[in-house]
This record gives sequence, C-alpha cells and structure tokens, in this order.
Amino acid sequence: MENMWIILPFMLSFSVLSVHTHAISEEEALARAIRILEQYPLVDGHNDLPLVYRARIENQINLVNLSIDVVPQWGPSHTDIPRLRQGKSGAAFWITYVSCTKAGKDAVRAGLEQIDVIKRYIAQYPNDFQLVTTADGIEEAFFAGKIGSLIGMEGGHMIDSSFAALRLVYDMGIRYLGLTHSCSTPWATTCEEDETPPGATIGLTNFGKMIITEMNRMGMIVDLAHVSRAAMIDALNTTKAPLIFSHSNAWTLCNHERNVQDDVLEMLRENNGLIMVTFVGSFLTCSPSSGQANVTHAADHIEYIRDLIGVDHVGIGSDYDGMSSPPIGLEDTSKFPNLFAELIQRGWSDADLEKLAGRNLVRVFRGVEQVRDSLAATDGNDEWIPQEDLPINECRTTG
Ligand SMILES: *[C@@H]1O[C@H](CO)[C@@H](O)[C@H](O)[C@H]1NC(C)=O
Ligand SMILES: *[C@@H]1O[C@H](CO)[C@@H](O)[C@H](O)[C@H]1NC(C)=O
Ligand SMILES: *[C@@H]1O[C@H](CO)[C@@H](O)[C@H](O)[C@H]1NC(C)=O
Repeated sequence: MENMWIILPFMLSFSVLSVHTHAISEEEALARAIRILEQYPLVDGHNDLPLVYRARIENQINLVNLSIDVVPQWGPSHTDIPRLRQGKSGAAFWITYVSCTKAGKDAVRAGLEQIDVIKRYIAQYPNDFQLVTTADGIEEAFFAGKIGSLIGMEGGHMIDSSFAALRLVYDMGIRYLGLTHSCSTPWATTCEEDETPPGATIGLTNFGKMIITEMNRMGMIVDLAHVSRAAMIDALNTTKAPLIFSHSNAWTLCNHERNVQDDVLEMLRENNGLIMVTFVGSFLTCSPSSGQANVTHAADHIEYIRDLIGVDHVGIGSDYDGMSSPPIGLEDTSKFPNLFAELIQRGWSDADLEKLAGRNLVRVFRGVEQVRDSLAATDGNDEWIPQEDLPINECRTTG
C-alpha cells in the first residue's frame, strides 16, 4: 500500500506527459471518427422515426420526402436521409412503438400499422435503405452502400400476451422485442414499477419466462430497456441467448430507473450481451448541477460500462425522435461522429470503436441466431396465458 504513494505522483506526471505527446486536435479526431465509421457500420439500436410518421402525418408516407431536410416539412425532428448519411449511420433499428394507453385495447392493430409504415418507407428509398433481418445482412447492406434497416418492437403490449402474435411479428421482420414500455404487461413488469433505490417487483411470470424461451427458439433478440430490475434479472437468468438493452445507461452515473445497476451489468457480461448507451438527456445526467447533457456525459457512460464489464458489451442506441432534448453536440442523426471523436481524444483504439459502433451488436445477433439454430428441432409454444392474468375490458372477450 505504501508504495502507492511513491508511485502515484510519478504515474500522474507520466500520464500528463503522454496526453501532451498524443493529443490530437478535434478536427483530426473527427476525421478519424468518420474514417472508422466508413469501415464498419454504426448500428443504432433505437430510432423512433416511425413514431414521427404516426404522430405528424398519420403514416401517409408521401406527405414527407426523407431525401431532403424534413424539418421544414414536419417540424423539429432528428432523422432524415441527408442527416443519417452525414452522421455515417450504417444501420438502425427502426422502432415499432405505440402508446401504453392502447395496451389491452388496440395496441396490436396500431403496432401492425407501425411495422407497415417502416416497411413502406424502407421500400420507398431503395437507394438509401435496405431491409435487414439477419446479422450478416447488416454488413451486406453497409458494403452495398445502404443503411441497413432492422425493425425492433418496443413493448410487449403489441403482442397482447399471444405466442401466435409474437411469431407472426417475427415473420414480418421484427428482430427484437422490448418486453415492456412504460406499462407492465400481464407477464413482465416495467421499471416504472420499481421502487427507487432497488426494490423487489414481480419481474417475469412463468408466462414471461416462456416468452423469453420462445424468442430464443425463434431467433428474436430480447431487449430489457424499460423493464423492472426484477424482470432484468429473471430474463438474464432464463435466456439461453445473449440479450440487449437497446437504449439505457449506467445507473451508478445517473440514478434513473431506466438505467442499469452494476450487478445487472455484471450478469450482462456473463450473458455475453450488450447495453446500447442512449442520448436521452435525463438518463445521462441526473444531478441538476451537471447542466444540460452533452457529448462528455455520453462518453462517460460508455467508458464507465467499458471499465466495469468490458468493451465487448457496450454499443449505441440513440433514441433519436423518441426524446425531446438531445445532448449538446449530439443534436440529431448527423452528429454521431462527435461522440467517436470524443472517445478518440480519450485514447480509444480503432478496433474498440468498431466494437462500440457495430461489431458488438452483430456478434450478439449472431449469437442469437446460433441459439435459434441449436433449437431448430424444438416446437413452438402453443399455450395460452391463464385467463385470470388477462384484464377484461370492452375490447376483450374470453376464449
Ligand atoms: C425528394 O427529394 C429528392 C431530392 O430533391 C428528389 O429527387 C425527389 O424527386 C423527391 N421525391 C419526391 C417524391 O418528391
Ligand atoms: C436463477 O434461477 C435459479 C433457478 O431457477 C435460482 O435458483 C436463482 O436464484 C436465480 N438467480 C437469480 C439471480 O435470480
Ligand atoms: C459537458 O458539460 C460539463 C458540465 O456538466 C462540462 O464540464 C463539459 O466540459 C461539457 N462538455 C462539452 C464537450 O462541452
């Protein structure tokens, strides 16, 4: 221990010296960031552009031209093709999301409408978008010069506790399912029901665990953003495949219930899974004294997670168009390179930046596909959720 006090001042002066020797300018860092993102696809784990289509133009895709600046067309927003290209987007999970006010009512229909609008806008811009449903497809689209377009679903309310609905949305192209949004389903609890600091909630019911197993069998990625701590632990303890948090941050840096605690992150490392750091300001900074979130805070969460569980388990899930106040320096989809430039200035290697950008997500997706292949001889689950678990309302009959 005492030796530390002798070594420490020496180490400090050495590291100051090395920062000076290797310091590169912001401009150089940005140029290198762009070069890296041209070599391997940046896969954004969470983009809510489909929600803008629904909220502003009722999914009438011809009322907007994504090939030009959309802000004059439908107002403030984060995503269009020029900005995606400028930001070096390699691929994105476009999100099928509808409000929890529809849960148990018309959520399934509305969810189908969101899958439909995603597929239609992908087809509308064939020079820029390519539908992707496999891990290999991400690389194929990228090397063909297209933005790989994957589809994720954010909230189990859109499958209404039905294995049949789960299987059919897979067939439509859904490759991850967030078990909940801000409402619990009859089989998984949302983080909104978490006590803070951590308390015990139900997590997953037996039916919820069967949903995980069925997703493993089909090759659908499990997404734990938005679920309760108990559901995270139950899912990690049930899954045979790696899983993701598509847009969540480190709870230790920002004690928000949407963020992930260290012990769960350690389970995620054992799972070989991935947490995709999100740019939602209120999940980056929690203390009023830290001011508006910026690139520094996003890089801090990424480095915290890297230091705790390793660079193989961190990615990016922006939540663009799903949040109102993005960080300074990460205002929209054109700004991803700023974050990479910040990490370059902190000494990150090209190899690690490629992992952060997309290699980790592709590895996880391949892992999910391998588990699916290993379960190919297994039958689909055809149980129904126990009737008493389904709330009866004017939209639901028995049987
Ligand atoms: C959208 O904008 C691009 C670029 O200006 C243009 O080439 C294209 O024709 C427009 N599409 C429609 C449907 O207006
Ligand atoms: C995981 O599941 C096993 C068996 O079902 C159980 O004994 C164990 O306590 C669970 N672990 C956690 C962390 O919940
Ligand atoms: C981000 O904000 C913090 C204050 O919370 C500040 O120290 C830091 O310099 C800012 N970063 C940038 C890139 O402006």
